[in-house]
Amino acid sequence: MLSKSLHRLPYSLRMGLLIAALIGLLIGALAWIQSEREHLADLEEMDRRSYVIAHQMAHSVQTALQLPDKEAAAALGSALEGYQRLTGLALYRPDGRLISAGKGVTDFADSLRAIALQALEDAKDIIVILPVGDTRYHILASLIRAPQGQPEGILVVVHDLSFLEQRATSRLFQVGFWLALVILLLLILIVAGIWAVYDRPLNRLAEWMRQLRTGDAVDAPPIELPVARLASESDRLAASFRAARSAHQAQARAVVRAGNVWTRDRLRAHVVDCLQGGQLLVVSNREPYLHELRDGKPYLIKPAGGLVTALDPVLQACGGVWVAHGSGEADRQTADTHGRLAVPPDEPTYSLRRVWLSREEEQGYYYGFANEGLWPLCHLAHERPIFRADDWEHYVRANRRFADAALEEVGNGPAVVLVQDYQLALAPRFLKEARPELKIGIFWHIPWPNPEAFRICPWAPELLRGMLGADLIGFHLQQHCNNFLDTVDRMVEARLDWDHFTAELQGHTARVRPFPISVETWAERHAPNSPALEQQIDLLRERHKLDGQRIAVGVDRIDYTKGLAERFRAIGRFFERYPHYRERFTFVQLGAPSRTHIPRYRSYINELEALADQINWRFRSDGWQPIHFLIGHHDSNTVYAFLCMAEVGIVSSLHDGMNLVAKEYIAAKPQLDGVLILSEFAGAARELADALIINPYDTEQFAEAIRRALEMPPEERQERMARMWRQVEENNIYRWAANFLADLTSVPLPPALNPEAN
Ligand code: G6P
Repeated sequence: MLSKSLHRLPYSLRMGLLIAALIGLLIGALAWIQSEREHLADLEEMDRRSYVIAHQMAHSVQTALQLPDKEAAAALGSALEGYQRLTGLALYRPDGRLISAGKGVTDFADSLRAIALQALEDAKDIIVILPVGDTRYHILASLIRAPQGQPEGILVVVHDLSFLEQRATSRLFQVGFWLALVILLLLILIVAGIWAVYDRPLNRLAEWMRQLRTGDAVDAPPIELPVARLASESDRLAASFRAARSAHQAQARAVVRAGNVWTRDRLRAHVVDCLQGGQLLVVSNREPYLHELRDGKPYLIKPAGGLVTALDPVLQACGGVWVAHGSGEADRQTADTHGRLAVPPDEPTYSLRRVWLSREEEQGYYYGFANEGLWPLCHLAHERPIFRADDWEHYVRANRRFADAALEEVGNGPAVVLVQDYQLALAPRFLKEARPELKIGIFWHIPWPNPEAFRICPWAPELLRGMLGADLIGFHLQQHCNNFLDTVDRMVEARLDWDHFTAELQGHTARVRPFPISVETWAERHAPNSPALEQQIDLLRERHKLDGQRIAVGVDRIDYTKGLAERFRAIGRFFERYPHYRERFTFVQLGAPSRTHIPRYRSYINELEALADQINWRFRSDGWQPIHFLIGHHDSNTVYAFLCMAEVGIVSSLHDGMNLVAKEYIAAKPQLDGVLILSEFAGAARELADALIINPYDTEQFAEAIRRALEMPPEERQERMARMWRQVEENNIYRWAANFLADLTSVPLPPALNPEAN
């Protein structure tokens, strides 16, 4: 109750009260100690005064003691009377007989006798505090000795102590008064101080943030913030907020302008506008069509991975050239002497230009620097990045090879070049240096970590300078844009403009923007229609003994960032908690082997196989097992059939730029009959809030999400899926490409580089 009402007080008042109370307690304790000491000193002073009186009386008392009692009393006369605080004196014989006593002490002469006899017994002077009624008395019983030393009598000196106690009380009152005054002053000072340096700036900051949120024009945060870093961070926050809002508004405007759904045809028309007669080039490491050898013959493979999934539809829509590494065994024999071939092979719409790399180059550039260095560096997934100088050399050389191949394809004409991903960070600068008038964009498909993480790469500044050769640098999320600019800020000598999210290096300005990537609908991909699909599903159910089973599916490259082990564990835990689902529910994992020349990837496959075996062994029964781990390159129709048949789609990345499988699953559910379980660490979770969002490390939560997905009422499934379906349909890959190209081509070249301006 009290703590609740305290919390309602302003912060400065709470702090003021706390500090003043502490200081008050301290001063109070010191004052109490001091007043105790003074009281003791008063008592000592009283002792001293009693001794002085006894001493002064000693001679006349000694003389009187030589006389019989009556004469002795007469001889002492009024000498034993008190005055002021001295109540009086009394004189006793060693046998306890009272010789004489002052008037003030006769009332309690008996108590005094006992004290006198005690002094005699102790054979020394004693001091006693004696309470009588409301009054306390200070008593000194002093032995009067004959010249030979034996006690002849006891002189008792009695003082009234009340005045000392009054003095102590009034002293305490005074101290209390001053203390209260000091505490009040302190309180006022502290409250005013805290309000000035803390409450007021924070209130202003909060007000400024509110204005920022509501969109009222505000330029800079309040300047008198107590912590400079907070001020600079909020400045950046504001800038990133503004950039995100204007991007969002631009997108929203585009939506209103042109209806909601982007299609292949619409993108084609848009790109013609953007290119204005120039060529479109995509440059990436991974090629969209790869030829392996099977039984001595070329066999076409569509590599797994988000990059190809996203960009192939774009080039199919717009035409152009895709420059990529020819990594398949049969790639050379299926391309012409320049490494070119028309793709897709069965219905060509664009041209693939393969770049040839030697084994050492591929090892150093792709397996080494890109995938043992940059990949774990950017994914922060508990895998230590490895950076080798040799790999770096190969990386530089390979990037130059890709840039040269792109330049060859461009010829002398205008072009827009879309460089892709972390394997080619240096290519934008190589291209810009050779042909400053080319419009160059780079899209980073993976996360960008914070500057502290990124700076461990020994060649971080070179990578950043390479990327800053581009006109437009795209990431999935605003947060990655922020991290990137922060890293540039710390590591290279570029000039940053946080309001516009740009970085200028050597006279060239690069813009940094978020473009959440996406997929195309399955219908656009000519996925099998209903009867063919049903047939394929039946076939797969029969082949994998899935008849009558409820199914969950995962589709991934086998990569330690994808959280496959965590997924398997959650499946195991699910069957442990809900054994009645045995033989009724099966999880199918399609896993495409990836980067298998890297030891960590090889060991990951083995770990996963062992884990799946262990779980299967534990829960299996005749003809049924909980996990089907299907390792291999699955063609697009198989993937589609599994996505369609699965009631539950599972994506459990430990860290992922976007994760397109999540969107592929949604896109495969036009009937709205599925549930997506999605890791909070995948970029897609920002857009697909209607998925069951999980932390893949939390096995209990993950297992529970599987149960919830299986038991979710049909209406809830539909509602959730409908919202996600709309999101994916409206923000498809065509919109992504249109936005990226529009942004890239919207800024005119500087006049010196613009042939039309001359
Ligand atoms: C991720 C990367 C892509 C890469 C893909 C497949 O999506 O961002 O650049 O192409 O994985 O990996 P791979 O090494 O087989 O090309």
